[in-house]
Amino acid sequence: EAAEKDGYDHFMLKEIHEQPKGLDETFNRRIQEDGSIKLDGIHLTKEDIEGFNKVFIVACGTAYHAGLVGKCAIENLAKIPVEIDVASEFRYRDPFVDDKTLFIAISQSGETLDTLAALREAKRKGARILSVVNVVGSSVARESDDVFYTWAGPEIAVASTKAYTTQLMCMYLIGLYMGRAKGVVPDEKYNQYMSELQDIPEKLTKLLKSESTIHDLAKELYKREQVFFIGRGPDAGVSYEGSLKLKEISYINSFAIAAGELKHGTIALIEKDTLVIALATQDKLYEKMLSNIQEVKARGAYVIGVAKEGNREIEKQADRVIYIPNCMDEVSPLLSVVPLQVLAYYIAKERGCDIDKPKNLAKSVTVE
Ligand code: G6P
Repeated sequence: EAAEKDGYDHFMLKEIHEQPKGLDETFNRRIQEDGSIKLDGIHLTKEDIEGFNKVFIVACGTAYHAGLVGKCAIENLAKIPVEIDVASEFRYRDPFVDDKTLFIAISQSGETLDTLAALREAKRKGARILSVVNVVGSSVARESDDVFYTWAGPEIAVASTKAYTTQLMCMYLIGLYMGRAKGVVPDEKYNQYMSELQDIPEKLTKLLKSESTIHDLAKELYKREQVFFIGRGPDAGVSYEGSLKLKEISYINSFAIAAGELKHGTIALIEKDTLVIALATQDKLYEKMLSNIQEVKARGAYVIGVAKEGNREIEKQADRVIYIPNCMDEVSPLLSVVPLQVLAYYIAKERGCDIDKPKNLAKSVTVE
């Protein structure tokens, strides 16, 4: 097992470090010489794509969080309404799905029972089934009309890391592909997205070099018993994932909420020294996030901000700031989630937790 960990103490850390390579493969294997996207395993024609009036994304856990960001990407690129649900709710609530629905299941293992059952239900109602899966030949893959593999390689740690980021990459590619087929993504936007996605692996490698700073932060924070994650837009999706990572492996009570919702209840829990991790990577929403930070600071919170390099205004409000390399707003989840994964890892390590095999959790849940 030590050999398989490649010198890392845990599979989770190894897998965090495998993300630049995984993302490079997920992206570059799909780009043809002329710069167009080829979605191997997906046989959707232009007519098929134009015939859909809705996309339904269904998944569980971390894969569901990838879907939250995927929803933003597909709506923005393919100009089609996207609904999203957790599989355990979708399968029992008689959702409106028909033969004009593109149903997208996201699953690392391809064996999650709820996701599989939701997929079967959507199929029964006539939807076209596309899955984004990591494990080749898994049940979800076998039962789908179209399969788009994440190519993350085997993920051993229960807490998902590289599967999540490669799922995100797949969702951007699906959105771009659908948008191009419909003729709603102008060349300039397409080229900008493609060059931003292409640059992610290198930026991530750079970001991972600051691991020791995050380890130091973890040493400061590991005794906390409660953490709140806040963000807006794609950052809200990343907040949910950052919070899940932390609670899964460190057993700290963590909670994520869209920052604009804070004032409708959750802010009642913010008091002196409450730890708040505030994602502020969206240029469009930066000022809004600064005022949310101000709101929690006014109640005494200790705030760790996550922002893009160069956006230093946040230093006036937050107690500490983690910077990610500059990028276009839409693709920032591919970068911003990584310091949260690393922070969760080192906090759990400082707490002496069994990181790769957290209590009560399984890598793949094949029962209800
Ligand atoms: C389990 C794992 C999670 C994972 C979820 C969905 O709960 O512990 O890490 O996100 O299942 O798994 P899937 O294989 O469908 O992505």
